[in-house]
Amino acid sequence: LNYRVPRTRRDIFQTLIKGLQRLEYRGYDSAGVAVDGSGKDHAASISLYKKTGKVKALDEEIYKNNAIDFEAELDTHFGIAHTRWATHGEPSPVNSHPHRSDKNNEFVVIHNGIITNYKELRKYLVSKGYEFESETDTEVIPKLIKYLYDNRENEYVSFSTLVERVIKQLEGAFALVFKSIHFPGEAVATRRGSPLLIGVRCQYELSTEQIPVQYNCGKSGSLHPFFSNQFCLLEVSFAIIEHTNKVIYLEDDDVAVVMEGKLYVHRIKRKAGEDPVRVIQTLQMELQQIMKGNFKAFMQKEIFEQPESVVNTMRGRICFDSNTVILGGLSDHLKEIKRCRRLILIGCGTSYHAGVATRQILEELTELPVMVELASDFLDRITPVFRDDVCFFISQSGETADTLMALRYCKQRGALTVGVTNTVGSSICRETDCGVHINAGPEVGVASTKAYTSQFVSLIMFALMMSEDRLSMQQRRLEIINGLKKLPELIKEVLALDDQIKSIADELYHQRSLLVMGRGYNYATCLEGALKIKEITYMHSEGIMAGELKHGPLALIDKHMPVIMIIMRDACYKKCHNALQQITARQGRPIILCCQDDPEISKMAYKTIELPQTVDCLQGILSVIPLQLISFHLAVLRGYDVDYPRNLAKSVTVE
Ligand code: G6P
Repeated sequence: LNYRVPRTRRDIFQTLIKGLQRLEYRGYDSAGVAVDGSGKDHAASISLYKKTGKVKALDEEIYKNNAIDFEAELDTHFGIAHTRWATHGEPSPVNSHPHRSDKNNEFVVIHNGIITNYKELRKYLVSKGYEFESETDTEVIPKLIKYLYDNRENEYVSFSTLVERVIKQLEGAFALVFKSIHFPGEAVATRRGSPLLIGVRCQYELSTEQIPVQYNCGKSGSLHPFFSNQFCLLEVSFAIIEHTNKVIYLEDDDVAVVMEGKLYVHRIKRKAGEDPVRVIQTLQMELQQIMKGNFKAFMQKEIFEQPESVVNTMRGRICFDSNTVILGGLSDHLKEIKRCRRLILIGCGTSYHAGVATRQILEELTELPVMVELASDFLDRITPVFRDDVCFFISQSGETADTLMALRYCKQRGALTVGVTNTVGSSICRETDCGVHINAGPEVGVASTKAYTSQFVSLIMFALMMSEDRLSMQQRRLEIINGLKKLPELIKEVLALDDQIKSIADELYHQRSLLVMGRGYNYATCLEGALKIKEITYMHSEGIMAGELKHGPLALIDKHMPVIMIIMRDACYKKCHNALQQITARQGRPIILCCQDDPEISKMAYKTIELPQTVDCLQGILSVIPLQLISFHLAVLRGYDVDYPRNLAKSVTVE
């Protein structure tokens, strides 16, 4: 955060801490800030404050500190702040960021990502006499920049040149922001592989919509500034939205300098075909959109938003009069997609489940082979990918490292890449050839809910678009399009069952385990329901393919094992009925999600949750909602923090 107008130190702390609090939903285990030190020449020293646990704990720690003069007014100030999710080294103040070069805090750095060659760098720096205090990969960065500064001999080296020299030595993924007592009031930020954006706040109307990248600026730093106002440098847009909605996304290896309120972006060399400007973009995000409203948790709010979020996904894309579907982001590539050899859907966690959920209808309507892959496993297998494959990368955040790596892998092999994300401007959006924004609105709860149903609807729309000119499929398409039209009303009907679902959670919350069974179109619901339960209630839960029951899971069944079964009126109904008989024959007492008015099933169930019926391939959108609600109620009853489950992060930007 860089200020140019006078601010009190209290203001500065508050802005940094509030920014960190906006990022809390992403999951973290410690937090820290670096600001100019106290005293007359405040920029001649840097103070670090770090703490494990919640941002609130850090805030309290700072305000307890009698040595800080909170009322002091500063003309120019540059502060940095960070929340950490441990990858190397346990959560502890010493392992949290900002990391420093030495005891005098000459250089301090915050980092998101992983430095894969840190061991070699550390060994080298240790041999040069640098002492390390943490177990992190990050700490090599401040040490390395100090080493380069100390060994500059008589040459003048600008801060940005030092940073350029540092990143030449780094391997892995990083978004970095540097602060130094040798360059007071100046910030340098850079990235490779991890996202980084610059928020731009101007007191006056911005005079330009893009800024040129400057090349070969040399060591003297003879750069041309483009703004004269205030800037915030941060990597996640939620943290800056209350200050500005104007942002610049940095590209890999861009080095951005903010100095005395002026911004410069430069690169060492211009590569062929590279865009020589960075456009100032406007974030479409309102603060109240991300506030909790009257709900107990963001997750609960997001579950209840689904009647609207699915409409937002379909808005402007389905014409219910002519039964046509147009996904603007794919139109230019449709011919190529139709000619492809196969479709590969790739994602992690919930996003992977959206692929599992829609695979069958995609196979039916496109008549193409469809593979659904977990990004990590897809890479582990070094899966063969061809130029005539079309690969979909499904990701709420658009930043999941595994999915991003898989995208780069497929791109290298010449496949057409399609992003399905909820985050405009995210890495996956920018790196894919084309894509669909699911438009579900910001999702804050770590456990994904509305993004799942919107991913689901987006992939269904894609299947409909692919089959528009297939005469034999018109009846089926019509049925699905009508189903989509009625979907928001049916979702409301399911949400109205919340009290009944809560009473079931009242009975289950002390259990240790909960199995969820189904097959066909509802298998994905089982996986997704079990994931929700695991993520936020910490109960053991498994999504079981009912067809596999007799091949193992049946051994788990007795009168004590809680089981939820999904039995809808579709092509698998009879087979599910058989599975139900096998369960009840072993004294199992299943809670069954079934269609309204199904006395056959109700008779055999311990309890039922009756859902409105829709088209078979859309039923999973309705059947997942009771499981989202059950997991929410179970987590509340078990006393857990629904939005911030232990050990998990909303956006996993490390492999
Ligand atoms: C993390 C989150 C999950 C999410 C997964 C994929 O593990 O905790 O809720 O489903 O990442 O995230 P993405 O943003 O790629 O959909």
